Amino acid sequence: MTNIVLIGMTGSGKTTIGKELASRLKLSFIDMDDFIEKQVGQSIPELFEQGEAVFRSLETDACIKLADATDTVISTGGGAVLKQENQKWLKQAGVIVWIDRPVNLIVKDIETAHRPLLKNGTEALYTLFEERQPVYEALADVTVRNDQSLSETVNDVLNQLT
Ligand code: S3P
Repeated sequence: MTNIVLIGMTGSGKTTIGKELASRLKLSFIDMDDFIEKQVGQSIPELFEQGEAVFRSLETDACIKLADATDTVISTGGGAVLKQENQKWLKQAGVIVWIDRPVNLIVKDIETAHRPLLKNGTEALYTLFEERQPVYEALADVTVRNDQSLSETVNDVLNQLT
């Protein structure tokens, strides 16, 4: 099986859903932020302190490397889709699934501590969503709305992929 690439807003459930998908399909799982942190030995907030561009450049490196993955569910960071170059690598990596969670639900339970873009609060999510929604929509092969339980969302992904 090819890779499954999960895209979507920060806090949309990509990592939780990705782990469950990987376990059900007996695939490996890679979270792109964890991958970047391990590659450089620094946390996402530490990288953002050096400037967002530093993080974004490492994110592109990760997209390039992960395009060669096999039998893996890849959970991307919410902004990984923004550069056209990244879009090309992600498409090459596999089938792209947009985890579409309504922002009002994200706001209710998102953990902001390790998310530098939300350091001033969750209000920023609404602007980010306005900017990014068309990009997610255009890039997605499959869209799954995550406003239900984890198992229902994972079942939806599986139904749409088969
Ligand atoms: C970001 C989302 C984060 C992380 C970084 C930037 C974004 O990943 O890559 O803080 O631009 O939306 P998650 O989507 O896993 O929170």
